[in-house]
Amino acid sequence: MSNRGNPILGWVNDRLPVTQAYEKHMSKYYAPKNLNFWYFFGVFSMLMLVNQILTGVWLTMNYTPSAEAAFASVEFIMRDVEWGWLIRYMHSTGATFFFIAIYLHMMRAVLYGSYQKPRELVWIFGMIIYLALMAEAFMGYVLPWGQMSYWGAQVIISLFSVLPYGDVLTEWIRGDFLISGATLNRFFALHVVAVPLVIVGLVVVHLLALHEVGSNNPDGVDIKAKKDEQGKPLDGIPFHPYYSVHDMVGIVVFLFVFCTVMFFFPEGNGFMLEYANFEPANGLKTPAHIAPVWYFGAFYAILRAVPDKLAGVALMGGAIAILFVLPWLDRSPVRSWRYKGWFSRIFILVFAVAFVMLTWLGTQPATGINTLLAQIGSVIYFSFFLLMPIYSKLDKTKPVPERVTGGH
Ligand code: HEM
Repeated sequence: MSNRGNPILGWVNDRLPVTQAYEKHMSKYYAPKNLNFWYFFGVFSMLMLVNQILTGVWLTMNYTPSAEAAFASVEFIMRDVEWGWLIRYMHSTGATFFFIAIYLHMMRAVLYGSYQKPRELVWIFGMIIYLALMAEAFMGYVLPWGQMSYWGAQVIISLFSVLPYGDVLTEWIRGDFLISGATLNRFFALHVVAVPLVIVGLVVVHLLALHEVGSNNPDGVDIKAKKDEQGKPLDGIPFHPYYSVHDMVGIVVFLFVFCTVMFFFPEGNGFMLEYANFEPANGLKTPAHIAPVWYFGAFYAILRAVPDKLAGVALMGGAIAILFVLPWLDRSPVRSWRYKGWFSRIFILVFAVAFVMLTWLGTQPATGINTLLAQIGSVIYFSFFLLMPIYSKLDKTKPVPERVTGGH
């Protein structure tokens, strides 16, 4: 192992392969040269994860996890703690931007078939991260102990009552006969310690699995198939310095948008911080309209699309579960949608529109027309996945080039 003339590094390397790891994952990790802007969203997700952890630690310094004091402690952070308002808005806006980044990151995988062989595990770990992230966001929203914290938790926890032993299960989750300070305490512990640890661990495994097989690209071409005499992929460039510097440009633009929203629209017109949550939790007064934060909207709309509660919960669970098996539903001989047939290409777009529509509907009252649209959206959502083994196989694909197209 090279110690680059540095005796301390050499000493460390003999005991822990630091240089080897740096080369494997940075300076000698060959990424396809044609990665486009869709490939920024992984690094944006990482940035938001770091933002959530750092601002979360500082929020915890002044937050009080008890039913009596939680709401007032958040007001205290907003009004009295020096820069407290900034830390809180960084955290609340961060949650929204984290989900925007994650949804676009997942959409990229759908567009370019990144979940296909040999990257199934990268996708599966991604899905487990997504589940953990939803749990993390849900529990975080309970902590300010406003009306929507309380009633949102009420709605979500009550979903478990349709399962076998539902009453015992919901009581076990709440730690009480109703949502109370005991529930708040455990959600605090899980939100601040347990789930973030799990997410960080999963991100490490997600990236190790990716680096084992290498990144996909917008053409879905395997860059390892064509190598030079030194064994380097002809269409690959070292991640560092090329993509590390390239990612900095994306990060600056992303932070610009992030700061604009955070400083000028921190409540996101009631979509990021709901207005009902500016009132303290009151178990005796149900808000007129209980709606989830936007990033849960699509699944909430699917839940409400059917009148029967058990069927709704089953559909909602199914909508998430089906994503896990996506790598095995796609039977297309090509990865990227660039070379897939017209039917698959149009279906991907229709699916994306349906998902955005469902997201919107989930935040709105379930009136007649909204319910009908949610039903149509749900049918599109499930058809996209359930019919995929058929249409992805039958669709006429275009020839895939031998080398990647584009790139600098
Ligand atoms: C905390 C959350 C996450 C972080 C920090 C993260 C990070 C990353 C990074 C840095 C990359 C490499 C750069 C890139 O391709 O954008 C990547 C690749 C990938 N991620 Fe994630 N990810 C997260 C969640 C997810 C989720 C939820 C999924 C899907 C369910 C997913 C699926 C993938 C796939 C399939 C790739 C390979 C893409 C390709 O090579 O074309 N990730 N991830």
